Amino acid sequence: MKYLITGGAGFIGSSLAKKLVDNGHEVTVIDDLSMGKKENLDTEKVYFIKGDIRDNELMEQVFEKTQFDYVFLLAAIASVADSIQRPIETHEVNLDANLNILKLIKEKQNDIKRVVFASSAAVYGDEPTLPKKENSQIKPLSPYAIDKFASEQFVLLYNNLYGVPASVVRFFNVYGMNQNPESPYSGVLSIITDKFKQKLAGKDAVFNVYGDGNQERDFVFIEDVIQALMLVSESESSRGNVYNVGTGIATSLNRIIEIYNDYFKISMKLNYLPSRDGDIRYSYADISSLQNLGYVPIYSIVKGIHSYLKKELENL
Ligand code: NAD
Ligand code: UD1
Repeated sequence: MKYLITGGAGFIGSSLAKKLVDNGHEVTVIDDLSMGKKENLDTEKVYFIKGDIRDNELMEQVFEKTQFDYVFLLAAIASVADSIQRPIETHEVNLDANLNILKLIKEKQNDIKRVVFASSAAVYGDEPTLPKKENSQIKPLSPYAIDKFASEQFVLLYNNLYGVPASVVRFFNVYGMNQNPESPYSGVLSIITDKFKQKLAGKDAVFNVYGDGNQERDFVFIEDVIQALMLVSESESSRGNVYNVGTGIATSLNRIIEIYNDYFKISMKLNYLPSRDGDIRYSYADISSLQNLGYVPIYSIVKGIHSYLKKELENL
């Protein structure tokens, strides 16, 4: 089968590309490398295009050249905090570019089996009802969340109105190998991992905790996310539907720090700072819709962090 992954040099996209190539599929990736890295991909096996999804001419060429079976829309400015700093640019990438891609798919991809759009748990905001169900109240607190929800709606509209087969996944907090820790807005587990690596190298590392550390997230390991993406893209009944992708269990940031301290048998220096604007306090997923497709999360938070750290240390 032929797959296109936008943002495929990033954390989740490159893990998905590897899985698909291992399963014998043809994979094209388009990524501007703003956060992703070419080294995340085996470019002998993946066809890599360095480009911006906002480049309409380039996107037109991509969809004219190849008839894809599956398209995963993962390219995004993926940070909530970054979107608050750069709302216009976030909007162009996270909404406008996706809408243009949907239009091109409708016009040029007649045999497409499924478009899967990567949305986010951020769309639920901090409305207090937990766990979050797919039909829970939507209360976006950031430009990122607004654009994710609007893109979701366009994806579902293209499914319902124009017959483009599509599904939406709402990732909770994904972690694992190849998550880029270099931006201050990177995923928190990649930042903590990086701080511990600095400390192991003898440097004086300090981890900044925004807020009191009691905020909770449903941290889901990349392998479970790949399982979910395969199930949603291949299932007939998932067409036109939205799926939470998490574990169904919440963990606080303070507990995460404890798991790391225990693993490395050292105590990370912490610097408690005010909470970030737009930050959500508590979040975890009801995953029963995904479970109905056959999803079984394999990684508890401890098992997932240990697998992640084992691989990170092998690569040191
Ligand atoms: P990531 O930053 O590693 O991946 C996104 C990729 O998109 C990067 O490689 C980046 O270079 C690329 N990109 C950004 N702007 C682009 C542009 N204009 N043109 C082409 N490529 C561009 O993030 P990720 O964690 O792999 O996230 C993948 C998707 O899942 C994103 O849409 C993100 O919003 C969503 N998501 C992620 C999480 C998470 O916890 N990681 C949670 C919810 C939703
Ligand atoms: C993350 C994802 C976002 C996704 C959302 C879904 C990234 C960069 N962000 O956002 O794409 O849509 O999950 O739930 O992958 N924190 C610190 N110190 C740090 C960094 C973060 O204390 O150095 C705190 C944050 O303030 C926040 C928590 O850790 O309270 C998680 O932050 P982050 O990893 O950025 O995730 P989300 O904002 O939940």
